[in-house]
Amino acid sequence: MPKTPWNDDYAAGDLPWDTGQPDPRLVEFIESGAIVPGRALDVGCGTGTDAIWLAERGFDVLGIDLSPLAVDQARSKLGASKLRCRFAALDFLAAAPAEPPFDFVFDRGCFHGFDEAEERSRFARRVAAALTTGGLWLSLIRSTEGPARDKGSPCRSALDVISAIEPELEILELRSIPSQIESARAWFCLSRRRPDPEGPVTRSP
Ligand SMILES: C[S@@+](CC[C@H](N)C(=O)[O-])C[C@H]1O[C@@H](n2cnc3c(N)ncnc32)[C@H](O)[C@@H]1O
Repeated sequence: MPKTPWNDDYAAGDLPWDTGQPDPRLVEFIESGAIVPGRALDVGCGTGTDAIWLAERGFDVLGIDLSPLAVDQARSKLGASKLRCRFAALDFLAAAPAEPPFDFVFDRGCFHGFDEAEERSRFARRVAAALTTGGLWLSLIRSTEGPARDKGSPCRSALDVISAIEPELEILELRSIPSQIESARAWFCLSRRRPDPEGPVTRSP
């Protein structure tokens, strides 16, 4: 089993982000009807709670995570369910996920983990490449706004977020929201893949 900080966290059960419940901002977004069920990718899916919830709402979901232990736990959670939901261990910065294109990409706390601006840009580029034209990416990002925090994942400013994402996708909404797991702020960032100058890629049926 590879030794990575994330894998170590999963081995130790040190998972403060893992509430065991679908993220309420994701739930609100999907239940608003902003996107109809289609093919979805959860990047940095952890133990799979949000991916499984999306599959229960009719999405065909691929959850990927760098940590093989997280993927094992997600697969256990899914069990023998007949849901259209799969999990794979993958470094999203290093390799494109199988089965593109996706209509919806979701990440909760993965994009914000990269300290280098180049890595965040690469992440956004990979999201754009994985999406259909017009496909949506919802990213929930730890924010620099609010009380200072001395532990947990790094925080990102609005400028960090926009600098990485705007060149690659059209930002539709960047909203400061309360963090779900601490008394601080987060960003709700919704962006859309622009039309492809090489020709359209249509949404899957
Ligand atoms: C803060 S956790 C959030 C997990 C999950 N989204 C949740 O909300 O429970 C960040 C996740 O991103 C994963 N991750 C970090 N770097 C990654 C990469 N390069 N490719 C894929 N996943 C990555 C970690 O293994 C970890 O599971």
